[in-house]
Amino acid sequence: MNMETLVSLAKRRGFIFQSSEIYGGTGSCWDYGPLGVELKNNIKRVWWRDNVHLRPDMVGLDASILMHAMVWKASGHVDHFTDPMADCRACKRRFRADQLDAGPWVHYCAAKAGNKFEVPAGEPCKHCGSRRTLCPACGKGELTEPRQFNLMFKTFMGPVEEDAAITYLRPETAQGIFVNFDNVLQSMRLKLPFGIAQIGKSFRNEITPGNFIFRTREFEQMEIEYFVNPKDTVNGRPADEYWHERWIEDRLAWYQRYGIHPENLRLREHGKDELSHYSKRTADVEYRFPMGWSELEGIANRTDYDLTQHARFSGKSLTYFDEERKEHVVPYVIEPSAGADRSLLAFLVDGYAEEEVRGEKRVVLRLHPELAPIKIAVLPLLKKRDEIVATAQAVRADLARRWVAVYDDTAAIGRLYRRQDEVGTPYCVTVDVQTVGDPEKREAGDQQVTVRDRDSMGQIRVPIGELTSVFERLFSGEGWTAVAARYPPRRVRGNVRA
Ligand code: GLY
Repeated sequence: MNMETLVSLAKRRGFIFQSSEIYGGTGSCWDYGPLGVELKNNIKRVWWRDNVHLRPDMVGLDASILMHAMVWKASGHVDHFTDPMADCRACKRRFRADQLDAGPWVHYCAAKAGNKFEVPAGEPCKHCGSRRTLCPACGKGELTEPRQFNLMFKTFMGPVEEDAAITYLRPETAQGIFVNFDNVLQSMRLKLPFGIAQIGKSFRNEITPGNFIFRTREFEQMEIEYFVNPKDTVNGRPADEYWHERWIEDRLAWYQRYGIHPENLRLREHGKDELSHYSKRTADVEYRFPMGWSELEGIANRTDYDLTQHARFSGKSLTYFDEERKEHVVPYVIEPSAGADRSLLAFLVDGYAEEEVRGEKRVVLRLHPELAPIKIAVLPLLKKRDEIVATAQAVRADLARRWVAVYDDTAAIGRLYRRQDEVGTPYCVTVDVQTVGDPEKREAGDQQVTVRDRDSMGQIRVPIGELTSVFERLFSGEGWTAVAARYPPRRVRGNVRA
């Protein structure tokens, strides 16, 4: 699939809109619509449940976005969180110097009497040996020498715009965890190894944002700082290295548990030259996005860098008392740092499928039921029959107490099914004449409804009174085939089965 198809589906079906669109849009900012916010909340909820609630060694935190300016001095972000940039002297556009070689460039070579050449990406001119010197956007302006540009958003705390009031929007949630290390350790009486998890917005003034919600200046992180005793060994390995491997395995498995195909995931080790200033080793979980393999999550061994820096700058002790050795140690930290927006993009890309059903194209988002924004759609077969509409609305109201359930009667049933397929709704419930009966024909209703499975398009008849237990079983992971085996299949008439 390509990104344009996804951007268009996301807009058309209320997942993601361009920010401030009526004013022409804001570069690289996106708003989550009614279905997008449900999907994102579901991703964050299962991440939190799996990484905090289900683990005895994890707790959560929600630190503020604005922090003391010294945090960013101590963390190294003021000095090191930079990208090299070159500016065009003519059109004033700014480029990442390390990405200038990404495309071919046009060159008027002095060594060849000013003749024009197209030089392939990443190569110097074969006549004079020079690299790109002209702007890749306007093609006319000379580029400046690269300069370091800090990616943090600067702002002022309070009413006075003076240097003493400068602070930054956090570029990572991690620092909120490090500065609260002792608060959490003491209040929760924790023993190493343990981790602190946090979900929240971060901000980076990226020079080249893009690829839809992949790289944006405002984004949401799901971060874990997992503290270990560097003096411990586990299975004969230093504890930090052991836990680093464990987290890499856990995180790869997590994406697969919620439906990402294993062939679209891979691990990439950072080379020594690309490691962040705090990292001993980083491995990226990469996903095969439409624009190619790109980072979904970074898993770094940050050693004792951050706690040591904050202890030095704040003058406060940030250590752990090792009861066995009777000594204070500065824990090492393993950091699985995932992007909530990138995860959402990966789940959308991976779930998207186009297939042919009885000669027609069906678009289906095969989202894991736990992630699907709508769990159940309740649909009336005929909206002109009051009893059918009333029953469908009552069924929806009942199911909505447990699951996100919607009612829709704005099209014929075949089209309603297609709409739900396209947004990933795992199950539809259809109320028809058989359910409510037909007084004119003196037929009593059987109080049964059709339940339809998104993936197999199989349909069964279920008594209304048993719907809750059917959905409990379906949503607890007991597959469609096992649940459907206990109920009669829906009799197929005309084009009702879709
Ligand atoms: N905390 C790691 C990162 O934001 O990249």
